Amino acid sequence: MKNHTLRRRFVLYGALIFIGLLVTVWTTASLAQNGVTNHGVFQRMAAMGIAKTAVGTLTDMVAGRVRFDRKVARAARKNLIRVTRHIPKVFKRPDGDRLSRAKTDIWLSWADFEIRAETAERAARRLRVGRLTSLQRTLPDMLNACLNCHQAYRKPGLNRPQENGLKN
Ligand code: HEC
Repeated sequence: MKNHTLRRRFVLYGALIFIGLLVTVWTTASLAQNGVTNHGVFQRMAAMGIAKTAVGTLTDMVAGRVRFDRKVARAARKNLIRVTRHIPKVFKRPDGDRLSRAKTDIWLSWADFEIRAETAERAARRLRVGRLTSLQRTLPDMLNACLNCHQAYRKPGLNRPQENGLKN
């Protein structure tokens, strides 16, 4: 086989692998939101997904499923502060979607919803991630803040597999 044919073939395979990777990343990202078409709903679910990942990281450490790692814990805390601060913003518009579980009460009791978001943000700030014991002590308030709001403003049901970490 001539040299340049070989080279062309390499370039082609390289391109194909790259496209394959792109498609994988893209489908994983959209599957995570399970076919939500409304942009606003998509965004708030994406935000909640970040919250779930961060909470999952910290609960895994507390439960001893993964080894405590201060740096990782600190990054998770940072994400939780950021994402809880954004809750009012991503929920402000009463967007709807077939797959949304948000109760319309959110927009009828907006002040209360905001208070619950603030409580969550405060709990995120109060997370102590310097040591495992301090994380153990401060994580429950964070989880309660998540669950309190879900109990009030998220419809039960559907039980989608990606929510296994935090069902109520
Ligand atoms: C102030 C209220 C509030 C707080 C605080 C809150 N959530 Fe949510 N969360 C909601 C609502 C409402 C929904 C439903 C959104 C929808 O279906 O449109 C939701 C949905 C979710 C979902 C499902 C997303 C999806 O793809 O369907 C996950 C996971 C989640 N929350 C995790 C968390 C975690 C973890 C925390 C705490 C760090 C948290 N939430 C804090 C209100 C809240």
